[in-house]
Amino acid sequence: MSATAVRETVETASRPMTTGDIPDVIGLLRAAPQTAYCEWEDDRLLGQHLAQASDICRVMRDGTGRVVAAVIAGSFGVRGTISHAVVAPEHRRSHLARKLVADTLAAFRERGVRRVFLFVHDDNEAAVRLWSASGFSPTAGESTLERDL
Ligand SMILES: CC(C)(COP(=O)(O)OP(=O)(O)OC[C@H]1O[C@@H](n2cnc3c(N)ncnc32)[C@H](O)[C@@H]1OP(=O)(O)O)[C@@H](O)C(=O)NCCC(=O)NCCS
Repeated sequence: MSATAVRETVETASRPMTTGDIPDVIGLLRAAPQTAYCEWEDDRLLGQHLAQASDICRVMRDGTGRVVAAVIAGSFGVRGTISHAVVAPEHRRSHLARKLVADTLAAFRERGVRRVFLFVHDDNEAAVRLWSASGFSPTAGESTLERDL
């Protein structure tokens, strides 16, 4: 198989994210402004998070081991949240995100989580369709509040 083919071959199964994946994952998030990645989500913070959430933070890698798709999620008690989902531009529209999201939801179920929420910009058509196709629907009558610490 040629080097290009090896690079382009993507694993069909997602895997729990490891600390070794973090630089690739941050690279993907930085390159996709729609993810609203914040610089404080750095190696140290993500590494700490993975210590208790590597089952719900998942990646898919290409034939060279480079991460080409990632989901970062967290859980508190019986609820969970997906904070980032990203697929490398050259691998989009191949259902990698669908598979990653399905595997992440299965991992949440394994933990006993029964409700998952996330935030998406209304004008991010690809993401709105992805979440809709994955069974998410808008929350009626609620606003999202946030503050930085
Ligand atoms: C959103 C994103 C993760 C989707 O990844 P992907 O692997 O291309 O998505 P999939 O191939 O699994 O597509 C799943 C469904 O989403 C929809 N979809 C995905 N990309 C789309 C696009 N560009 N336009 C319209 N619909 C799209 C489709 O309904 C698709 O199902 P279908 O192909 O059966 O019609 C990817 O476009 C991305 O990384 N975007 C930048 C980061 C981002 O927006 N993240 C989400 C923030 S909430």
